[in-house]
Amino acid sequence: MSFRLAGNGRFVLLLFSLHCVTVLFVLWTLIGDIPIVHYVSRTRHSATDRRMQATAKTIQEIYEAGSRKIHHINWHVRNETIAPDGVMREMILVNGEFPGPTIRAKKGDVLQIHVQNDLAAFTQSTSIHFHGLFQRGMNEMDGVPGVTQCGIPSGQDFSYVIDLKQSGTFWWHSHSRLQRIDGMFGGLIVYDPEEAYVLGRDYYEEIFVVLHDHYHNSGDANMEWYLSKESSGFEPVPNNLLINGQGFTDCDRILSRYSCKRSVSGLPTFQFEHGRKYRLRILNASAFAEINFSIDDHILNVIEVDSTEVEEFSTHSIVISPGQRYSVIVEADSNFQSVYMRANMQNSCFRYRPYGYRSNYTTVIEYTSPLETAGVTGLARRLFGQPISAQSSPWSDVLPKEECVDLDVVSLKPKTAVPNVPEPDVRYSISPKTMQFDKRHLAPFGFINRTSFLPAIGAPNLHVALNLINTSDTVPVPTVSGRQNTAIWGGDQLVTQIHLGSVVELIINNDDDSAHPFHLHGHDFWILRVYGETNAGIGKWRPEYISSYVLDNPIRRDVVTIPRLGHAVIRFRADNPGMWAFHCHIAWHLATGMMMQFAVGVDSIDQNTITEQMLEHCAIERGLGTKLLRPLPGDEIRKDSRTA
Ligand code: C2O
Ligand code: CU
Repeated sequence: MSFRLAGNGRFVLLLFSLHCVTVLFVLWTLIGDIPIVHYVSRTRHSATDRRMQATAKTIQEIYEAGSRKIHHINWHVRNETIAPDGVMREMILVNGEFPGPTIRAKKGDVLQIHVQNDLAAFTQSTSIHFHGLFQRGMNEMDGVPGVTQCGIPSGQDFSYVIDLKQSGTFWWHSHSRLQRIDGMFGGLIVYDPEEAYVLGRDYYEEIFVVLHDHYHNSGDANMEWYLSKESSGFEPVPNNLLINGQGFTDCDRILSRYSCKRSVSGLPTFQFEHGRKYRLRILNASAFAEINFSIDDHILNVIEVDSTEVEEFSTHSIVISPGQRYSVIVEADSNFQSVYMRANMQNSCFRYRPYGYRSNYTTVIEYTSPLETAGVTGLARRLFGQPISAQSSPWSDVLPKEECVDLDVVSLKPKTAVPNVPEPDVRYSISPKTMQFDKRHLAPFGFINRTSFLPAIGAPNLHVALNLINTSDTVPVPTVSGRQNTAIWGGDQLVTQIHLGSVVELIINNDDDSAHPFHLHGHDFWILRVYGETNAGIGKWRPEYISSYVLDNPIRRDVVTIPRLGHAVIRFRADNPGMWAFHCHIAWHLATGMMMQFAVGVDSIDQNTITEQMLEHCAIERGLGTKLLRPLPGDEIRKDSRTA
């Protein structure tokens, strides 16, 4: 009897101690968990959160602010050494932020952005371009060195004054050299109470997702390599992919010449509340990578394409080219407690894979209303040092697609319909191409037709067109073709004169075996046809295609991807006077010359739009003259005269 009692007692004791251990364990988990969860997701998340995630309240305040608010914005451009993905490198940042400050304003507002260039090198002038804004009647604010202005010299300042006449998702970036991919870019979101998709009614909150390829070397270092024999003409392939300026690096797989900090490495996570709808504004700010974006178990309802509002179009994934933006509405209706957001760099666009290369990136969207297993997830994090994981798997149709092409033109229909695209007044055909020449030691150069763009020194084309500077007064620029200043313009330029108001049709034949995302300044365009063909020679435009153009409310956007060995046809009404750049948005192609310009009704531009200060910046640039020249490969004589 007593034995049995004792046995029972021991059993109770055992149960009791087991219970204690469990309680302690749970307590330890809970207590231990708070700071861990905090550290892993919340802290890092909220750091981006404040800048990237606009609450309903923030947006409401923007809507309700008095009419025509003037935003006084102060920017300092500096060299900064930071480790966005754990790997330290020098970058070029605005106010030390990466990505740069997100501007949120409403249609009708004015931005007054004072830019102070505090970059160390005297050769590093800077500029800001507001990608997607038409700058109607304000060409001089478009921010393209050599085209609309001279760079803001180091040590100097300049104020961009911008009238916000459009709404949607835009971005800003430096248009000087490779500063954009060294970190000098950020978002610009313009709200309009009259938009088709309204906060509060159509979505609960919005999240800005900036996707971005990332290099562990500077833009200049990569450029040097690209132009050298070692590259064989292959573009530098990014080392990482970042979301909102953050990324994960496995420090064990990093060459020892880099300093890698495990503690700051990691991707930001996002939070959804069950039953809510979110608007994700997604930007691909990459130098090179086309990115395939998807969220497990969630449908993307596309509502905006490069600031054009479109009829809702549902898809499992979108492929985004450098420069492009999409807004999608996502309904938080999953039964998973957390799911993966996926961003894959399209491998087929790259011609080699560097050491440690990876193309698939995932981060987590967590549902904030926790299910019962929440604590276990927390424990797993703590025990295994796992950042965070989800149980979801990708949509089965997401991964295989590996071509560098845009969302199908035919499925995107603008909300503000244009039922009949006007007939063209002029039709031009151009061919972008990357070319290498023996004479240039096989260094790759970007061409449009026969011209590889190089900005003139101290003589931007807008100033030349307005007779404010004579190209004969400027420094002769060494050009790839060997030609020096053209008859009218300094440097090597392809400028097409357009009468104000003309409808221009542009046929872009891509003879390269890689895609080129082309961006037009000052206008958006209708996309009438996009054609990709993998067999060389048969992807070119032919006259019989005219009958198959999409002319009934085609999509309007500002970046179109021309598939490899294919073509695209776009049309736009050139109703905005100015010198407007048209170029490939791949940093390597743009920096090596894949750019042309449209001179639209320049005779109707007022000379007085060019201020004393702008002219002064050009005078400083001309003063630096040959010091700004980088000898082209094969220009040994010039190199000698430079060092002399
Ligand atoms: Cu986003 Cu000329 O560029
Ligand atoms: Cu290109």
